[in-house]
Amino acid sequence: MDFWDICKTTNFFEKILVKVPLFSILYLLFYKKAVETEWEFAGLLTEDKVLFIGGGAIPYSAIILSNKVKHITVIDNDKKSVNLAKKIINYFRINNITINYENGQYVNPKDYDVIFLPLQAQPKNKILANIKSHCHENTKILMRIPKKAFTKFYTPIKDLAIKNYKEKAVNQLTYNKIIMFYPGDIKNE
Ligand SMILES: C[S@@+](CC[C@H](N)C(=O)[O-])C[C@H]1O[C@@H](n2cnc3c(N)ncnc32)[C@H](O)[C@@H]1O
Repeated sequence: MDFWDICKTTNFFEKILVKVPLFSILYLLFYKKAVETEWEFAGLLTEDKVLFIGGGAIPYSAIILSNKVKHITVIDNDKKSVNLAKKIINYFRINNITINYENGQYVNPKDYDVIFLPLQAQPKNKILANIKSHCHENTKILMRIPKKAFTKFYTPIKDLAIKNYKEKAVNQLTYNKIIMFYPGDIKNE
């Protein structure tokens, strides 16, 4: 299975789960602890505006964070995921999440305090270059780092165009570390 197959599988899996609200809730619970660890690590504030690049059909990270920050914009470059994600946000009656059909390589990231990138958001270094050129210097960037067994499918830390970062261990199925850095820590292309 190559990288794109893995991405499509995760994406496909979420598209199935989202059809049954109970499954979506169990999916959210599965990730809750890891996302709350990310929230604590990043020191997110209630007035923060967050951009999540690649939310999928079940934007569980944004849903879990929605009562902890001011507003979250979730983007995805897959139209079907965007439509399904809009439905689940309405189902949970969450009114501080906006879902947009956009690509992380070209989105305007300048109005956000925090930017999240999940494992599947690609191409990582092009997304980072876009962030570096447009964000203010204090924007926090959070990224999940794949476990060794998954580095074949998701960009490993050594291939990321970043100079410095802070890290925290988490225990999840596919990732075991989250890192945080600022636009100034991203290398020039
Ligand atoms: C399956 S989701 C995983 C995120 C997870 N649901 C969460 O809340 O943490 C990953 C999504 O990233 C999207 N994606 C990948 N690259 C992207 C890019 N450059 N811009 C926007 N979305 C992207 C894929 O379409 C996929 O739906």
